[in-house]
Amino acid sequence: MSQLLDCIKKKKTNIKPIWLMRQAGRYLPEFRQIRKKNPNFIKLCLDKKLSSEITLQPLKRFDLDAAIIFSDILMVPYGLNQAVSFKKNFGPLLGPINLEKISKINKINFSNKLSPIYKSIQKVKNNSLTNNKEIIGFVGAPWTLLVYMINKFSPKKKLIKHFFKDKFLIKKILIILEKFLKIHIQQQISHGATVIQIFDSWAGLLEEKDLPEYVYIPTLNLVNYVKSLNVPVICFPREIKNYKNYCEIVKPNVISIDYNVDPKLIVKQIKIPVQGGLDPKILLSDKNNLRKKTLKYLNIFKHHPYVFNLGHGVLPETNPMMVDYLVKLVKDY
Ligand code: CP3
Repeated sequence: MSQLLDCIKKKKTNIKPIWLMRQAGRYLPEFRQIRKKNPNFIKLCLDKKLSSEITLQPLKRFDLDAAIIFSDILMVPYGLNQAVSFKKNFGPLLGPINLEKISKINKINFSNKLSPIYKSIQKVKNNSLTNNKEIIGFVGAPWTLLVYMINKFSPKKKLIKHFFKDKFLIKKILIILEKFLKIHIQQQISHGATVIQIFDSWAGLLEEKDLPEYVYIPTLNLVNYVKSLNVPVICFPREIKNYKNYCEIVKPNVISIDYNVDPKLIVKQIKIPVQGGLDPKILLSDKNNLRKKTLKYLNIFKHHPYVFNLGHGVLPETNPMMVDYLVKLVKDY
């Protein structure tokens, strides 16, 4: 069994596996080189040869415990025929929603449209670089995808003014998302993903009273589905105020924490394996500081099953040497 599974299934505390959100990305010169020649991000995600190559890039450099497939949470709205594009220095931009068009999509044409992602997973699985390592498939949580689908771009600090105006539309989209996210999860697993992470990047935008309807219940349905396929599931409800409540209700196998929460409180409150926490900005400072902050997390979670990761994705300005240093620190702990 891999170190990552030893940690999350057997709850071993003597090993601290590591992988990083956005470990394949713009901080790597070899990624930027491919990206420069491929200006269309969606097309790049749907190129099984290049996306599998990008997925493996960080594994060639660093002793990581998992590969996370190079794709994007917005490939699901794309698969549902909503226009999705990525504008330089702006981020994602989505087109209008046409419920009639979405309702016509079935499992087969959705899976066909996204099939290069699944084939890419297969290629990653068959590469010896992933021997004894896990392959992490992922989806956006229904709430976070709803945010992009209705808001049309990254909300930054708050949602557009009339976000909740059309309750019928919201209900409909959540039902459709549940169905197709399950299909997307199932396809990733049947092509080789061995762990699933659910990214709820915008969970922190909601008030406490709205969490059950938009976060807890829709995510719980997906968590139960992944568990029914005998695959562990990691949840990342970024900037949520009460991680303890979340864990008690949604019951993921692993909870991934952001960098605003106090790890000392988490280790006291939460019984399940924990992942992440370190502020990605620390990788922009110096080795001494990185060492100090990394050891802080490792020491706090010394007697707890803990997967080392960041509190959000690796930043594009990160020096790969710092990532190398971090991985070695964790491996030598
Ligand atoms: O972690 C990984 O390395 C796997 C690949 C991955 C990407 N996006 C590649 C990507 C994963 C897991 C994601 C998830 C994702 N995508 C999330 C959830 C995690 C989070 O960051 O909160 C979200 C919210 C998105 C939506 C998204 N995709 C945004 C907001 C942006 C633009 C802003 C940005 O950081 O670039 C993207 C584009 C994107 N997704 C890039 C990459 C490597 C950058 C594309 C480029 O090269 O320009």
